[in-house]
Amino acid sequence: MPLFGFDFLKKVPFKDKIIFDPTMMGQVVMHNRQTLSGIQNWIDEAAFKNSCFDYGVPQIIRNNINKQIDNSITYSDVLFYLMKKHFVNPDYLEIGVSVGKNFFQIMNNENVGSLTAFDIEEINPVLAAQLIPEREEKWETPSVSIKKSSSSLKDFKYINKDIRYLCADVWDENSWAKLKGNKYNVVFSDALHSAKAILFEFEMLSKYELLDEKFIIVWDDLIGKMRNAFFKIIRNYDKKYQIKDIYLVPLNGWVGQYENPHSVGIISNFVL
Ligand SMILES: C[S@@+](CC[C@H](N)C(=O)[O-])C[C@H]1O[C@@H](n2cnc3c(N)ncnc32)[C@H](O)[C@@H]1O
Repeated sequence: MPLFGFDFLKKVPFKDKIIFDPTMMGQVVMHNRQTLSGIQNWIDEAAFKNSCFDYGVPQIIRNNINKQIDNSITYSDVLFYLMKKHFVNPDYLEIGVSVGKNFFQIMNNENVGSLTAFDIEEINPVLAAQLIPEREEKWETPSVSIKKSSSSLKDFKYINKDIRYLCADVWDENSWAKLKGNKYNVVFSDALHSAKAILFEFEMLSKYELLDEKFIIVWDDLIGKMRNAFFKIIRNYDKKYQIKDIYLVPLNGWVGQYENPHSVGIISNFVL
């Protein structure tokens, strides 16, 4: 029996505020700001020159990406907090990692298990410099993709953690198939900000059984049609996944106070 039982409605009921334990969140914010202070410059000019989309970093973000952010809560803080509060060694998938600013903060969460990054761009050399490379597998990218080089899956180590970097087009189903067998507890969807893309991503997560028994999924930038797609995902998959909690909240993003809060959606199959 679907929890919300509002299949006939276009919208689903959601909460618009998350209540955090102030002490735990204070620790998370301090930890993340400390982690960020370890990287002075996220931009590698040569990598940007060879990129598909400038790593999804428009000029306005580029001007601010290296600036110190204040202690207002960001989506990175919320991801970190939820992992710390609800899991022991959760496996994490980020779809759309760009230069790795959020990914690096999650990597430095001592509680996280393994981490997988999925992006059309090659791993940012600034992020790769933190990792020890292990293995690499390559395959052909479909000719219809805007990605004109081979796709690849690279394995790395970071301290004792397994890190995988899937460099491929989200639209390429073959790349999703490479993740089969993995189960993720926390997924952050932040690649193509279109309704069609997030619906397709969810179809892939479901088809390849990539969600673990207990999971949280977070989407960035849920405005306009993206928000309707978020509601549609909940309606379509509630029966399969028994969604227990839904949030739609304003949160600062990767450049903190230097841009307006993002509209962030969160679902989980347990009470957050
Ligand atoms: C907004 S950025 C991600 C920011 C990152 N999550 C953070 O918070 O630090 C979006 C990323 O999605 C990637 N992207 C866009 N289209 C894609 C596609 N078709 N397949 C895979 N990645 C894509 C871009 O390369 C870019 O790096």
